[in-house]
Amino acid sequence: MTYSTILTEVHDKAGLVQIHRPEAMNALNATVMEEVAAALQEFDADAAIGAMVLTGDERAFAAGADIKEMAEASSVDMIKADRISRWDRIRKVTKPVIAAVSGWCLGGGSELAMGCDMIVASETAKFGQPEINLGVMPGAGGTQRLTRAVGKALAMEMVLNNRTLTASEALHHGLVNRVVPVELYREEAIQLAKEIGARAPLAIRFAKEAVNNAYETFLTDGMADERRSFYFLFSSEDQKEGMKAFIEKRPAEWKGS
Ligand code: CAA
Repeated sequence: MTYSTILTEVHDKAGLVQIHRPEAMNALNATVMEEVAAALQEFDADAAIGAMVLTGDERAFAAGADIKEMAEASSVDMIKADRISRWDRIRKVTKPVIAAVSGWCLGGGSELAMGCDMIVASETAKFGQPEINLGVMPGAGGTQRLTRAVGKALAMEMVLNNRTLTASEALHHGLVNRVVPVELYREEAIQLAKEIGARAPLAIRFAKEAVNNAYETFLTDGMADERRSFYFLFSSEDQKEGMKAFIEKRPAEWKGS
């Protein structure tokens, strides 16, 4: 398949998917999410591949969902388009997916990385949920997976007050598996994917599923509530103002309506 917003490579048994929208800090528009899901599913169906790496570039893994694409949307538009349902396809990938993260990993970008099975971070990685600055909230697992990973206290600070985590803080709080110098993060993730990808495929598949079951029981309900609230916020004036202010590069003026 040919893609317009991602690049793919194969390294032995590891399949690599790179988000490639450098002009927009790898913001996740509908095409990116469609292509990421399709490429991961394609590798999942390929018997020669044992594990995958999902990455961005050195500046950004991804700076979140594409604000320009949704700035004018109503709640009804958001519910009808249900863009986040594409992310469910990634969750259903049966082979391990390792996120290789450098630079900004924000909003939907952080949610995408947390939706992977492991995270290898460069020393420059920065994790955050800045949706509050836009008059909305995380909509693709940020309130759920982040809280499970780092605990309630820190998750509250990140979601309510845009506290970002450095790579070493993310390691300390259990959000990422390992932190390596920026020149090595991608190679390190590929190496890990090669090692895991060479192991017994069926055992890997069921072991991944079992760990996720331990971790994600009740997650589905929490994710559904979160997604409803995220879409609902597109009825508010503050969402329109918050996203417009980002695009116009000025501070937002909140009204509470
Ligand atoms: N959507 C659309 N475009 C984006 C974007 C996004 N999330 N993030 C960055 N861009 C664009 C910028 O608009 C800019 O484009 P122009 O050159 O056309 O103006 C380009 O990428 C480069 O960005 P900056 O000039 O802002 O680069 P910077 O180095 O000064 O700042 C940044 C980098 C801190 C990541 C900053 O771009 C930023 O704050 N981005 C938005 C982060 C954000 O709010 N993410 C959450 C999105 S909502 C979400 O994800 C909802 C969800 O849960 C599903």
